[in-house]
Amino acid sequence: MTSYPIEQIRADFPILREKIRNKPLVYLDNAASCQKPQAVIDSLVHVYSHEYANIHRGVHTLSMKATDCFETAREKVRGFINAASHKEIILVRGATEAINLVAQSFGRSQLQVGDEILISAMEHHANIVPWQMLCEQIGAVLKVAPMNLRGELLLDEFKALLTDKTKLVAITHMSNALGSINPVAEIVTAAHAKNIPVLLDGAQAIPHLKVDVQALDCDFYVFSGHKLYGPSGVGILYGKQALLEAMPPYQGGGDMIRKVTFAATEYAGLPYKFEAGTPAIAEFIGLGAAIDYINQIGIDTIASYEAELLAYATEQAQQIKGLNIIGQAAEKGSILSFTLDKIHPHDIGTMLDSLGIAIRAGHHCAMPVMDFYQVPATARASFAMYNTHQEIDVLIHGIKSLIEVFG
Ligand SMILES: Cc1ncc(COP(=O)(O)O)c(C=O)c1O
Repeated sequence: MTSYPIEQIRADFPILREKIRNKPLVYLDNAASCQKPQAVIDSLVHVYSHEYANIHRGVHTLSMKATDCFETAREKVRGFINAASHKEIILVRGATEAINLVAQSFGRSQLQVGDEILISAMEHHANIVPWQMLCEQIGAVLKVAPMNLRGELLLDEFKALLTDKTKLVAITHMSNALGSINPVAEIVTAAHAKNIPVLLDGAQAIPHLKVDVQALDCDFYVFSGHKLYGPSGVGILYGKQALLEAMPPYQGGGDMIRKVTFAATEYAGLPYKFEAGTPAIAEFIGLGAAIDYINQIGIDTIASYEAELLAYATEQAQQIKGLNIIGQAAEKGSILSFTLDKIHPHDIGTMLDSLGIAIRAGHHCAMPVMDFYQVPATARASFAMYNTHQEIDVLIHGIKSLIEVFG
């Protein structure tokens, strides 16, 4: 791809100019969290310098200005995922909180003893533990759809697990440990054929794929701002309006009410019913700036550049003897998980760090995935819009030199 503005993009991310252990930083830990463009950093500085006050309650100018910027950010998120209404965009702390919200609000109000929640074998702990907690609380049952050794969901088995008892499907759009992209449109169609709502965990997919919640027809979609080049501490729960209207609030407090007396409380309408307390005001506005930045480049342009990076990295990695790629789904996002014969992933991570290369080593909050592949951990390089082919060369060279010295 010749027209991709990689030099300009790299220049927009000041942290990429850092040296780590006297070497240029090669940041390949994007699946854990992405770096921030200057536009996002500037937005935070601007809000705190010129536009900051608490929102929604104020009659003074600054509060109205902050409220305006905050609600504009909500509109940017709405547009980014093509939700039908701003009422369907709930600000939370991250994907984790969004899933807990659905589990505790939708789950506790709609599910009963013996009802089933269907997840997949490749879920992040954030899409396992909240459902286990719900199951313990109400006597529901957690079912797990299996995958094959390439890390692909077994769709027929998934469909066979959709029964009269299934009351919710909660599945990742893209696996953080493997990179697998699930056939979410087919999943939604199969579940809806049985009137089962679907939650998609979009924490990994959102920075890499065009997401259109209306086209997907999913019932809930969750993601975190910090993986989308935005600030940490903010995330989004998208939910279809009718479902959200029927759900009770998750937390009580200021801002989520219409009227309070000691006898009873009347809740606010959507989306405020689910936004108790003072939110992360500047960070949400910063997320809006991140979305502007992405839109300027184009998510499809980013996606095809990252697909090239992944293909290149995979091809290079496959040539290394003793390197095992964990996760080889036909549909994959820009994540390369691997192990090396005779070198523990933590040692890989530490040794690559000495070369200025940041990767992640561990279970990636997906212990069942590690169990499935019978490995204690993997090393994971994950690519973002600002990574380059040269950085992949540095990674591959680093891995080869590790093997020479320790393998
Ligand atoms: C697939 C997936 N789901 C959920 C999460 C949780 O995101 P957060 O920690 O930002 O809430 C992550 C984070 O790595 C993830 O990769």
